[in-house]
Amino acid sequence: MAKPDADAGWPARLLLIGCGNMAGAMLARWLELGLPAERVTVVRPSGRPVAPGVTVVTQVEGPLEPGTVVMLAFKPQQLGAVAPGLTGLIGPETVLLSILAGVPAARLRSAFPQAGAILRCMPNLPVRIGKGVSTLYGEPGMPDGVWAQADALCRALGLVEWLEDEALFDTATALAGCGPAFVYRFIDALSTAGAELGLAPDMAARMALATMEGAALSAASSDVAPAAMADAVASKGGMTREGLNVLDEEDGLAPLIARTVRAARDRGAALAAASQQAD
Ligand SMILES: NC(=O)c1ccc[n+]([C@@H]2O[C@H](COP(=O)([O-])OP(=O)(O)OC[C@H]3O[C@@H](n4cnc5c(N)ncnc54)[C@H](OP(=O)(O)O)[C@@H]3O)[C@@H](O)[C@H]2O)c1
Repeated sequence: MAKPDADAGWPARLLLIGCGNMAGAMLARWLELGLPAERVTVVRPSGRPVAPGVTVVTQVEGPLEPGTVVMLAFKPQQLGAVAPGLTGLIGPETVLLSILAGVPAARLRSAFPQAGAILRCMPNLPVRIGKGVSTLYGEPGMPDGVWAQADALCRALGLVEWLEDEALFDTATALAGCGPAFVYRFIDALSTAGAELGLAPDMAARMALATMEGAALSAASSDVAPAAMADAVASKGGMTREGLNVLDEEDGLAPLIARTVRAARDRGAALAAASQQAD
């Protein structure tokens, strides 16, 4: 897995505002890959330790050193409460990286008008093992150095995809941010189906998980598109084809997943609208 390269480098200082499930997973991966722990400060009300060498404080303290990357990683609905204590510290030398779901760049800009650059990042939980997906969006006109640094940081966590159109952020979040949960459901359904047909439930669970892992790894290492891989293993009249025929029915898997992703996307848009009204 690529580390941030020499040009982009690890940030001189990384300040995490909040470090729960998501930021904790990102930070653990970065530390594993060599981010010096002494460059990292975490603000979290509980004051719970994070990792050896990482400074934890319960309230943000200034001033911030030039070149500090500030990552916003609390719950989106806390922005109104957190921003006033932070905004005076964020200056033109500060890069702001937000993982807050449903908080557009324009809203961040109005909360932190002096920030040197504002980026949104939507990671997913497999970042912990370097197999995550991070969708990134930066305000137009962002300096190349900032782009490269954010790209390198997130590439250390897995796949990185940049959006040019921020309006697609909720769609990307629905696919990749929510995607792991959808995949877990599929694994569970495969396992339940096997158990209902007589396999011991724990055996079916192990088999479903390993099948998903093996199939995903094979697809990731193949040049063939997953749809074609499915057809390639389904000979006419065989068992796999018979099963695929059910999944491929008009009201089968594809429309179900389309509805699933659309519902998640629409919920993201609704939550964003509601939180904006609450401001
Ligand atoms: N979970 C995901 O899969 C996922 C994926 C993509 C993006 N996100 C985004 O990541 C963000 C965090 O989600 P999460 O699941 O990691 O939530 P979480 O586990 O509940 O973590 C929230 C963090 O915010 C901290 N916090 C609470 N009040 C604060 C305050 N006033 N000032 C500073 N920090 C404060 C908490 O501190 P303590 O540790 O002291 O409790 C905790 O570290 C959200 O904005 C979410 O949209 C999450």
